[in-house]
Amino acid sequence: MCGIFGYVGPRDAVKVTINGLKKLEYRGYDSSGIAGIKDGKIVHCKEVGKIAVMESKANELNLKLDVAISQTRWATHGKPSRVNAHPHFDNDHTLALVHNGIIENHSALRKALEEKGSVFVSDTDTEVVAHLISSNYDGDILKAVQQSLPVLKGNYAIALVHKNHPHQIVVAAHEMPLAIGVGKDETFVSSDTNSFGSQVQEVVFLGEGEIAVIKKDQFSLYDSSMAPISKKTKVMAQQMEDISKGEYEHYTLKEIFEQPQSLRSALLSRCLDEYGTAILEGLNFEVTELLSVERILILACGTSLHAGYVASYMLEDMARIPTQIEISSEFRYKNPVIPPRTLVIAISQSGETADTLAAVREIKAKGGRILAICNVMGSSLAREADSCLYLRAGAEIGVCSTKAFTSQVTVLTLFTLLMARMRHMSKGQGSEILQALKKLPDQVQTVLDRHDEIQALAKKYSHHDNFFFLGRHFMYPAALEGALKLKEISYINANGYPAGEMKHGPIALINADCPSITLLANKATYEKMLSNLQEVKSRNGPILAIASEGAHGLEKLADDIFYVPETIDETAVIPTSVALQLFAYYVAKERGADIDQPRNLAKSVTVE
Ligand code: F6R
Repeated sequence: MCGIFGYVGPRDAVKVTINGLKKLEYRGYDSSGIAGIKDGKIVHCKEVGKIAVMESKANELNLKLDVAISQTRWATHGKPSRVNAHPHFDNDHTLALVHNGIIENHSALRKALEEKGSVFVSDTDTEVVAHLISSNYDGDILKAVQQSLPVLKGNYAIALVHKNHPHQIVVAAHEMPLAIGVGKDETFVSSDTNSFGSQVQEVVFLGEGEIAVIKKDQFSLYDSSMAPISKKTKVMAQQMEDISKGEYEHYTLKEIFEQPQSLRSALLSRCLDEYGTAILEGLNFEVTELLSVERILILACGTSLHAGYVASYMLEDMARIPTQIEISSEFRYKNPVIPPRTLVIAISQSGETADTLAAVREIKAKGGRILAICNVMGSSLAREADSCLYLRAGAEIGVCSTKAFTSQVTVLTLFTLLMARMRHMSKGQGSEILQALKKLPDQVQTVLDRHDEIQALAKKYSHHDNFFFLGRHFMYPAALEGALKLKEISYINANGYPAGEMKHGPIALINADCPSITLLANKATYEKMLSNLQEVKSRNGPILAIASEGAHGLEKLADDIFYVPETIDETAVIPTSVALQLFAYYVAKERGADIDQPRNLAKSVTVE
């Protein structure tokens, strides 16, 4: 959450920096700001709202800067306001600083600094860092930063400019990504290399506790003891993909409609038909190591967690490997037992989710092996894991995850297939899975082609303020995911529940104002689901059913039915989820919500 972009070079620093920052807007969009040095003074512009608001204010002020740092914010400490927006300053505005992360001991530091004369104007944790560095400054800004960092508890990526050192940006990082981008006679800094674009040829990632001084045509790196370090730059992989909305009204809709293609891409050259198994490039574990895996632990958050649930069911069922799934934010505060021969699968679209990264680091410290399932190349997770399988879904810009989810399930199914075939799954069973996977892109297209039917259903149900999403077995994670989509983009209270658990309490909420979206595409539990539908109907709950083509016995129970193409239980979550994504999208549209950038959210959750 929050994005940092900075620039030192001959071009218009305000323009270059704001353009870079816009590519980070997915990380937070409640306020933004820019600061830099002009004629020996710190100059800045901060505004509440999206970056475009700050940009037009900067234009109105005719802001010109020689070097610039900027940040787009997702509020943690202090509500979104101009004064809480970054950059932050010291008393005399000698320096300006932007920060991603959380300073956990900010209250104690603030108190100590106030006693020494600091006057704070914002509610943020970041402002203490600006004051702290200023209080340690005696003419050497690098030394002041180095002396300040050990005092900070929490995590950070920071960038600062100081008026006495007008041609440079100083940056530092601890448990937060920050990269330096080297261009032609110009240097950049960003919390995400994808924001550099073609103007950057080479990148360097700041390592743990490292500090750097960035100038127009060079940068110097230091470790936490200020010993200079030299690191090789990496050639920046240029992303040539189209990240415009095209003909679509929202990125979210475009990404929902891209799924036939993203699924094809997830499967491309990964199906080994001859042997009824999968072949996974990037899976650089030895066969012997994969064969020796006795337990699997899956870690993820949000939508990725829901894909993890699907995988946990498959891995136990198909590969017969005991599999545990944990919410990263909960797991990291346990003292986990990681028995030998445990493989850890960390799932993250962005590869930057703070809780998942922290959990992964905890496991690595205990000697565990990590397989990442990730979409963003070069992300922190992809770099830190022992092996990474990419989703190849293309950039996901809409804040709510859609195509990444279906690709995660697809890649995890391929991995499960590989593990199962290495054990006792027959070639015939393996081929059935492959056939089902290969049909998915066309089946998803069938669902998308009927988007107007889903839009009509969404219109019918959009006035309700409470929903249940009910499913069993593979349809339980689908229910969780469907409910998450609805709540995050339409702001409707939606509960994903295992249908069998309803009678243990939640059924008390069922009435004519609380519809249940019931998911029936899991054949093994179909009959059981019919009983659950009876229970809802008996309590006057409206029912929208999503079922496989050919399902019988529903007509008298459900008020509305949407049929999805039939597939095996393991992959049924995909067509069902696409229908639910469209449902959430059209309900949100009906209610006039900001679909691509829903309130209070950010695309990558880089704070705890
Ligand atoms: C929901 C959504 C979030 C993310 C979660 C984890 O639509 O996008 O729940 O799935 O924040 O993000 P990643 O997958 O980047 O770790």
